[in-house]
Amino acid sequence: MTDVRPGAVHGAPDFGELARLGVEAESVVDFSSNVNPYGPAPCVVAAFRNADIASYPDRECLKLRDAIAARSGVSPSSVVVGNGSAEIIDLVARTFLVPGDRALVVGPTFSEYERASALAGAGVVRFGRTVAPEGVSLDAGGLLGAIRSETPGIVWLCNPNNPTGDVIGAAEVESILRAAREVGATLVVDEAYAELVLGGGEPEDLTPPLGDGGLVLLRSMTKGHALAGLRLGYALLPPGAAERIERLRPPWMVSSPAQVAGVAALSAGAEKHLRRSVGAMKKELAYLVGELRELGLAPVPSRTNYLISPAGERCGSGESLRLKLLLEDGLLVRDCASFGLAGYVRLAVRLPDENRRLVGALRRIFHDEPDGSR
Ligand SMILES: Cc1ncc(COP(=O)(O)O)c(C=O)c1O
Repeated sequence: MTDVRPGAVHGAPDFGELARLGVEAESVVDFSSNVNPYGPAPCVVAAFRNADIASYPDRECLKLRDAIAARSGVSPSSVVVGNGSAEIIDLVARTFLVPGDRALVVGPTFSEYERASALAGAGVVRFGRTVAPEGVSLDAGGLLGAIRSETPGIVWLCNPNNPTGDVIGAAEVESILRAAREVGATLVVDEAYAELVLGGGEPEDLTPPLGDGGLVLLRSMTKGHALAGLRLGYALLPPGAAERIERLRPPWMVSSPAQVAGVAALSAGAEKHLRRSVGAMKKELAYLVGELRELGLAPVPSRTNYLISPAGERCGSGESLRLKLLLEDGLLVRDCASFGLAGYVRLAVRLPDENRRLVGALRRIFHDEPDGSR
């Protein structure tokens, strides 16, 4: 069968691949998706377990939109809830792009922006960050120039960025927004990882206010709150634009368990769980960075719960390191070829013992240590 999803390469286990390779999915430790390894808060689990799954969910997600609006300081009519933020990316592209438009993607980044823009009939223009061992940089002046010369319908900006883990400050986001507004473009800032900026920074710290239009903020509840299997995300945007998006979607896209879990995830108890997880992940990120450096790799500085690292000369490509770790150790990392970074892998921070297993496997591969221990 033809794959009708061009460019759809993602982290997370590919169950078809695991079956082909004879690897048991249940035994794999997944370093390839950037989800909170401490799992959902107990109050979130309790909430979705008690959900009424025999009845249809609230089509308008009223309680959840109220909770999100209260948290974000916007009106509920500015909130669109989706079956994961991936669904909203697609809806945003279909709402704000018409065939023949250009979509400007600030890369290397999450592939769904390009896929959704192309499916909406737009031509994709890329503006690249520079990825170097000492860090990731974005030529802000060059980007503003590209927005003015390309006059795109949408500018897609992932902040913090996947896969590089760099963060653009609010002042810079505001200057990008001003340039987008000048040319009538919609700036979409995907903040899927905003609550996973290790070392502080609320989502609100990164982002400008919605204002009159031209800005869509995307948030995922599947990463920090570990609801990837349940699927939940939302967008904040001016009410008129939210209404245009709602017109495009089929009814009942967000299940009752997802809606009640979302409300619980915004409670003080879940917030505390998230803060604790972030504190623990911060220590583990430092551990991973130190160990990768000891191995002679040069991980690219990241401010989030994942990082990219060269795969090293011995493996040559991210794909070959990925397969080695998967087949020999049952550890799944994300190779970065689809981001245009074929020599890199992306690693998510996981639980302390899992991170030590990964380091042990890497030591064995890079230093020929029989069991990776020292
Ligand atoms: C940057 C970014 N945005 C959005 C998504 C989609 O997240 P979800 O649909 O689970 O909310 C992902 C998933 O990996 C992502 O990395």
